[in-house]
Amino acid sequence: MFRTIIEPFRIKTVEPISITTKSQRSKLLRQAHCNPFLLHSKDVIIDLLTDSGTSAMSMNQWSSIMLGDESYAGASSWQKFEKAVHNLTTMLHVLPTHQGRAAERILYGHLGGKGKLFISNTHFDTTRANIEYSGAQAIDCLTPEATDMNSDFHFKGNLDTDQLRKLIRQFGRKNIAAIILTVTNNTGGGQPVSMQNAKEVRKICDEFGLLLVLDACRVAENSYFIRHFEKGFEKKSYYAIAQQMCSLADACIMSTKKDGLANIGGFLAIKDDTLAAACTNLLIITEGFTTYGGLTGRDMEAIAIGLHEVFEDDYLNYRIKSTAYLGNHLHEIGIPLMHPIGGHAVYVDAKEFYPHIPVENYPGQALVCELYLEGGIRCVEIGSVMFGKYNRNGKLILADKELVRLALPRRVYTQSHIDYVVEVFENVFKKRKKARGFTITYEPEFLRHFTAHFRPV
Ligand code: F0G
Repeated sequence: MFRTIIEPFRIKTVEPISITTKSQRSKLLRQAHCNPFLLHSKDVIIDLLTDSGTSAMSMNQWSSIMLGDESYAGASSWQKFEKAVHNLTTMLHVLPTHQGRAAERILYGHLGGKGKLFISNTHFDTTRANIEYSGAQAIDCLTPEATDMNSDFHFKGNLDTDQLRKLIRQFGRKNIAAIILTVTNNTGGGQPVSMQNAKEVRKICDEFGLLLVLDACRVAENSYFIRHFEKGFEKKSYYAIAQQMCSLADACIMSTKKDGLANIGGFLAIKDDTLAAACTNLLIITEGFTTYGGLTGRDMEAIAIGLHEVFEDDYLNYRIKSTAYLGNHLHEIGIPLMHPIGGHAVYVDAKEFYPHIPVENYPGQALVCELYLEGGIRCVEIGSVMFGKYNRNGKLILADKELVRLALPRRVYTQSHIDYVVEVFENVFKKRKKARGFTITYEPEFLRHFTAHFRPV
């Protein structure tokens, strides 16, 4: 056993990073109205904004691109894609979509509508938006251990099954459109869901005759945690664990921009023939014909390969250990974090990082800006900028937590990039008492974090 985690790949193609100076970044940040979403990517040194669609593809994936069959119907690339999704999900009906939220729009648009209710461990923002847009309501039902940032409970993504029973009784079985289990739980810190929890949720769905949907965006990363922290799975392959988890559900939604190791894509897989027929109609109307949906043949080739590569032992060990490497090193220098470290990202507690900045002045936004200024690192605030809402009297209702997410693109950065991130944090932490909060000078009506403008107070 060695201390150093080596990246289990050699680098064949390189993408240059331009190294900016602090004074250049100061000007660039001002031009971007202190909102890193408005920066140009060429002005970013290390981009930790998202792990979605940012993976580096393997040489096998790139070479498969040339095999892309772009026929309108029955393409050979579709057959490879369908087989890969079918093997993983064990579901008969496979609907290809251009990304995860298109699959969400189709399924939740069909199942939702006024008076309907969805219950999930945590609804990701596009999931919630698609549900609410249909007129239905989305309720989060996360295990109580998840509220304690410092609890070392291994499965903080679990759905609270006691609360789930209560909600079903309270709202009535007939009003519930589906139960959604998101693995890993992105909004809750990339925290895994145990197989035991998934089985209990399945049991409750059977008892009440409810539909169970698995959001499988990061199902490979979730399998890592099950194999290493749940009894009875030590000898199982990551792929077999993921298959078992998918087989518990009635439908699976996946954005292949995450654990599909691809830059675009998604799918909806369904067991039931009638539900599949209704969704297929919507697929044809809004995405495309059944054998390509929202995808090109070449994308389907790359995704079919990615859905296997992501389960390789060496890859997953490196993936989860390198996320932990960043988290553990930040913890060692005193940075307050969400524990345990999740699969795809490290979540920093900005409220504790900057206790002198009032929450109304967005400590998370302050940290995001300081990290860019100090070292050209781009990441995202997940707090009151993203989730703050105005009530009827125009008063801002703040989020529960003020977090900053450092999401790690797959197979993109090396250990020295991560060491650099830790060093930048060290400097920002030393100067933390001098940091100032922000006020919002412009905001759109929906999803304000993407385009809002800020001014330091
Ligand atoms: N479900 C989960 C759990 C997600 O994390 C995402 C995307 C989606 C659905 C939607 O998929 O982007 O392909 O339409 N998460 C990205 C992120 C955007 O940065 O966490 P999509």
